[in-house]
Amino acid sequence: MAQFDLKTVSVLGLGYVGLPLAVRAQERGYSVIGFDVDKEKIALLKKGQNPFKDDYLEKNFSLFPLTTLTTDPADIKDADIHIIAVPTPVDAMRHPDLGPVIGASEMVAANTKKGALVILESTVNPYVSEEVVKPIFEKHGFTVGKDIFISHCPERINPGDPKWNVTNIPRVVGSFDGTGLAMSLQFYSSIVDAEIRPMKHIREAEAVKIMENSFRNVNIAFVNEIARSFDRLGIDVKDVIDGAATKPFAFMAHYPSCGVGGHCIPVDPHYLVERAKESGFNHDFLKLAIKTNDEMPAYTVERLQDALNEMEMPMKNTVIGVLGLSYKANVADLRESPALDIIEELKEHKSIVETFDPHLPEKSSVKSIEELLEKSDAIVIATNHREFIETLTPELMKKHGIKAIVDGKNCLDRDAFVKEPSFVYRGIGR
Ligand SMILES: NC(=O)c1ccc[n+]([C@@H]2O[C@H](COP(=O)([O-])OP(=O)(O)OC[C@H]3O[C@@H](n4cnc5c(N)ncnc54)[C@H](O)[C@@H]3O)[C@@H](O)[C@H]2O)c1
Repeated sequence: MAQFDLKTVSVLGLGYVGLPLAVRAQERGYSVIGFDVDKEKIALLKKGQNPFKDDYLEKNFSLFPLTTLTTDPADIKDADIHIIAVPTPVDAMRHPDLGPVIGASEMVAANTKKGALVILESTVNPYVSEEVVKPIFEKHGFTVGKDIFISHCPERINPGDPKWNVTNIPRVVGSFDGTGLAMSLQFYSSIVDAEIRPMKHIREAEAVKIMENSFRNVNIAFVNEIARSFDRLGIDVKDVIDGAATKPFAFMAHYPSCGVGGHCIPVDPHYLVERAKESGFNHDFLKLAIKTNDEMPAYTVERLQDALNEMEMPMKNTVIGVLGLSYKANVADLRESPALDIIEELKEHKSIVETFDPHLPEKSSVKSIEELLEKSDAIVIATNHREFIETLTPELMKKHGIKAIVDGKNCLDRDAFVKEPSFVYRGIGR
């Protein structure tokens, strides 16, 4: 197979996805240009500060400093490969916002040399490469497949995961032509120690990622619905899921919770729903899953109201301590976090809200778990951070006079908590 002369890589967007990838490429001998529009982030990175809690970055960030860190688009002009890893959010109406992808593509098209490979790693719906990215390069006078090559290789990184990271997660890659695909396979095989699967078409590579995250959204919605049913039926959903998981085939455990957060699972399905609608298909089932998950923060507050009722306490003016602000355990990422919706909902009920997240001290209203418990009448656990699981006990709750606990992540020892008569414990589906 032909070998391409690929030495210099520019990574556009140094976030949860772009930064580990950039450091990994540098580790594997590429000269890496890290570009971001965020001047503060670039300044921080230049000072040698790693902004993310990520096992791979914590071990390698200072060992493999990037060759260049810049906010100047002209600095990417010599790169053989440009990797776009910018955000793909939804707007207030939950419609896809392709602004950053368009901005980054325009910038690459205006600054790249001919013959370079452009790889989109951001999560996008099928047809974005064809309908959005390719026309930008054509507008700038490039012929795709001749003097510019475009691929899509969706990132699957799972921040905070101790086992799976940028070095070992298998990838899929699609391109517009054989040369783009071969260049992409050469690059990813050189940085990832896992299967790199070529896809027949670029839109299939796009669809892989959207399907993966829609699959998660739908399965989580299903267990969230089961949890709400089991709350009525008096069945412990966690025990049932753990029981079902003893079946060694055709069952995959998913767990209910106070909501789905992060930049991917609650967001990406909207990209598919909207694009399929343009082609005349209505994703009824996926839309219902999104709605089911979106309702979970409100349901969590309903569980609290139910627990407070049992203690003959009102929601109004009761101090509710929310433990955890980030959307998942042991990370400091607030994006689409259900905790934020829970807080809003509590405020609508006129409760007084105190918050604590050990990973987001600057966003917390108090400085410690103890201080939060001392100030609160009831608590909602919105994130299953290690610190909460290790610290919270029925005795500690009793000591601080807590009257109701909603374990939005089902992370506490339910049997120990329900035995204690001084407060009411509620989980999600247990
Ligand atoms: N975070 C995850 O767990 C994860 C996992 C897999 C895939 N993804 C996908 O990867 C993409 C990036 O996500 P992320 O979590 O790294 O986002 P992020 O917000 O952490 O980082 C994105 C970076 O891009 C920068 N940026 C914005 N517009 C830019 C532009 N025009 N040019 C250059 N830089 C720009 C931002 O300043 C930011 O530093 C998204 O499409 C996301 O869906 C994320």
